[in-house]
Amino acid sequence: MSNSDYIAWFRHSSPYINAYRGKTFVLTLPGDAMENDNFQHIVHDIALLTSLGVRLVLVHGARPQIEARLKEARVESEFSDGKRITDISSLPYVLQAIGATRLKLEAALSTGLPNSPMHGADIRLTSGNFVTGMPKGVINGVDYQHSGKVRKIDISSIHHALDHKAVVIISPIGYSATGEVFNIPVHEVATQVAIALTADKLITLIRPQGINDDNGNLQRHLSLSACREYLSNAQLPEEQLAALEASYQVCLQGVNRAQVISYAIDGALIEELFTRNGSGTLVHRDSYEIIRQARIGDVGGILALIQPLEEQGILVRRSRELLETEIYRFAVMELDGMIVACAGLYAFEDDNMAELACVATHEEYRNAGRAEQLLEYIESQAKLQGMESIFVLTTQTAHWFLERGFIEKPLSVLPQQKQTLYNLQRRSKVFIKAI
Ligand code: ARG
Repeated sequence: MSNSDYIAWFRHSSPYINAYRGKTFVLTLPGDAMENDNFQHIVHDIALLTSLGVRLVLVHGARPQIEARLKEARVESEFSDGKRITDISSLPYVLQAIGATRLKLEAALSTGLPNSPMHGADIRLTSGNFVTGMPKGVINGVDYQHSGKVRKIDISSIHHALDHKAVVIISPIGYSATGEVFNIPVHEVATQVAIALTADKLITLIRPQGINDDNGNLQRHLSLSACREYLSNAQLPEEQLAALEASYQVCLQGVNRAQVISYAIDGALIEELFTRNGSGTLVHRDSYEIIRQARIGDVGGILALIQPLEEQGILVRRSRELLETEIYRFAVMELDGMIVACAGLYAFEDDNMAELACVATHEEYRNAGRAEQLLEYIESQAKLQGMESIFVLTTQTAHWFLERGFIEKPLSVLPQQKQTLYNLQRRSKVFIKAI
């Protein structure tokens, strides 16, 4: 990365840096993540987040560690529905493995992070009996014994620790008033903790880059309804399914955003949190990418978007004043607070025709179907206004409109009023589409 790229990146990330101060993030670290080569980097990034004032709760798992410990001790465990039953003979090994994993995590977070940018960032850690557990019980005749579920979370103690600038570490364990200990799946603990704290984010680490669709392509973001549909249709590998279910559950119950990212890719956490596009999959209940009518406050953002295109002669020049008076004709696409695409609709009511004008997409956000979505939105708006067709005048982007069902027509098909205004010099072509 050149110096200027670095500076640009840093400037772009500053809104997030600001927004995250004092926010609560729950991070799910499965046991596999801690065995991965990239774990050192994750530890650094955790240190970085705390130094920026993020209130961090780490929920760790220990599945591979438990498996290794049981194997070593030659203890066979029973499974039901793919889940291990923690019985009385395996419990001591399960506890040993979980305890050792937690100690390892605490040790990693306590090193001075030598030779790293976060050198000297002392992290204060707290762990304890934050989770009360209860037996999962007998399900379909199977007694799950010491496999448990969450009964209660001691929110005020967690807040107390966070207020004192500690990172809270929670193990996949629940204690009970009768002195028993239950092994609880890591995602269940993380989900319940995030909901109880109404965390701002739940971040789940898995091996792949995020959640994939059926063709193996990364899903960059899912609204709650898209997520629900997705969970009922997609054939996801277990790891992704558990992460997506946790994300969906927490967002349903008040967490704004849940992100699924890779523990194996260096920088995935930072890229996800500090860039608009992220690196993994975002499940959100708030607006992340939306199309809406433009407001007066959008004028600056629209100008920034269209100016480069005006300079290249692709769009006709519009002054700030003109844009201010015509702002109600515009629709914009907003990506996490930034205007990334816009388009205007000028209705000619007498002719039931509307002109689509000033279609622009930010150069970093092109070729991802955004202008297309905006076009669909504009078309539906035009229909609502009783229009029967929309037309565009273009000099350089004819192909784009042709591919989207527009047909080239002579100038004479346009409303009379538009024909008189036609700028002969630009020699634009006319494309029209019935809607
Ligand atoms: N950095 C922002 C956040 O953490 C946006 C992340 C977007 N991520 C994505 N996978 N689309 O909320």
